[in-house]
Amino acid sequence: MKSEELKRSIELEIQKYEQKLNVTSIGYVLQSGDGIAIVYGLSGAMSGELIKFSKENVYGMALNLGEESLGVILFGKIEELKEGDEAYGTGELFTVGCSDELLGKVVSPLGESLDGKEIVVDKKMQIEREAPRMFDRDRVKIPLQTGIKAIDGLIPIGKGQRELIIGDRHTGKSSVAIDTIINQRDKNVISVYVAIGQKQANIARMVQTLKENEAMSNTIIVTSPASDPASLQFIAPYAGCAIAEYFMMKGQDVLIIYDDLSKHSIAYREISLLLRRPPGREAFPGDIFYIHAKLLERAAMLKKGGSLTALPIVETLAGDVSSYIPTNIISITDGQIYLESQLFNSSIRPAINAGLSVSRVGGDAQNAVMKKIAGSLKIALAQYREIASFSQLSSDLDPVTKAQLERGKKIVEILKQERVSPVSIPSQIILFYAVSNSFLDNIAIEDLKIFENRVIELIDGEGDLKDKLVTSNKLTDELITEIEEFIKMVIKDVQG
Ligand SMILES: Nc1ncnc2c1ncn2[C@@H]1O[C@H](COP(=O)(O)OP(=O)(O)OP(=O)(O)O)[C@@H](O)[C@H]1O
Ligand SMILES: [Mg+2]
Repeated sequence: MKSEELKRSIELEIQKYEQKLNVTSIGYVLQSGDGIAIVYGLSGAMSGELIKFSKENVYGMALNLGEESLGVILFGKIEELKEGDEAYGTGELFTVGCSDELLGKVVSPLGESLDGKEIVVDKKMQIEREAPRMFDRDRVKIPLQTGIKAIDGLIPIGKGQRELIIGDRHTGKSSVAIDTIINQRDKNVISVYVAIGQKQANIARMVQTLKENEAMSNTIIVTSPASDPASLQFIAPYAGCAIAEYFMMKGQDVLIIYDDLSKHSIAYREISLLLRRPPGREAFPGDIFYIHAKLLERAAMLKKGGSLTALPIVETLAGDVSSYIPTNIISITDGQIYLESQLFNSSIRPAINAGLSVSRVGGDAQNAVMKKIAGSLKIALAQYREIASFSQLSSDLDPVTKAQLERGKKIVEILKQERVSPVSIPSQIILFYAVSNSFLDNIAIEDLKIFENRVIELIDGEGDLKDKLVTSNKLTDELITEIEEFIKMVIKDVQG
């Protein structure tokens, strides 16, 4: 047999096998409502199996495997499903259709484009999937640049990392995520933004921002708005992750944002209560930790190329990170970016509390020059926080303390950043070096912004220095001289 014929016959055999699998068992609906069904007689079903019904417009996913009955979450025209309808096990896991056509689109968790256009599917990806094995993973070693000074400098993120963004309502959590997506527009990183239980208007505004900043063509938005049933909101992050994995498997670097897992937990709690699972702490089902751990475990840096970096978002109440869902997710991720209302309200934005934020693996990915310079910045900032807390009590300070205090204020000022204004790594390095090495002592706080803008403009004319700042594996004396010359030139320009 020729190899071509052999291939064809194997394909036919596989097809036959798949057809056989199409309906593996038949049961019937005992009860249907609120987006879930209890089905009798599909005892062989797998968790996550695609379930079909005699009503063709309805389908579901097996979630709760009981001895006698099966709990199924429903999709499609769920109101059509009635007691007594037939239910079919398919032997297949629930999938979402993926292809490059998803890029630039806003889609539902079922992979349907909200603009109504059909997406031609290249590959169906299981929404629930085992995370890559240890053997296939590489360590986190390449930076994922957010363009946000406070993050790239102090809490750097590496490709393949899971970094939590956590804070109260309205502290700028989503903005950090969106700015990070925008910064990927020229970095060959695909972004998947999963919006769970958000308002439609929010999504529309975000799409607008991404389009205006030329970042939408490399982005996919998976949304299940607040008006969706809990079943759809529940599968949204899995569907988003499956789409992200489709691109990762093709060797692409992918960034995924889950905005947010607090709302996801609430959707899962609703489903679980409807399925009459025993509630645990704060009425969440006992496996809530497990399902989030399993989801975030899918972030990875693959040895063969391709990565998935996950930024889950969690909302806290009155800054309480010790409640159930926040503590769970803090313990699953590789660090957290902690945003604070108090900072936000005193116009320190992004409102990142650098003292409480950490990135456990991102430091390994940071480039050598940035690592060195940001290291001194971190120390100066920590000293400032310490002095600031007791200097409020004493009136006359010694000159050294006073100078430290002044410098600290300038560091805080330099770390402020408007939305949608990414700063490149070379510019960040220059700014950090200037502020932590007394170059800015004679520039008033109000004028720091002018200095910053000039750095960003003028660094573009210094291609050689720009390159060295990112590629050098050591901060040499020569490089320091070059950095200082450039800073002096900018200061002269600003003052002259
Ligand atoms: N760096 C920033 N500078 C100025 N304003 C900002 C900054 N970041 C966020 N904002 C503003 O703060 C508001 C809240 O931001 P955002 O929606 O990102 O917060 P959130 O924590 O995601 O809120 P929610 O809890 O509603 O999801 C928005 O109006 C946004 O424009
Ligand atoms: Mg938000």
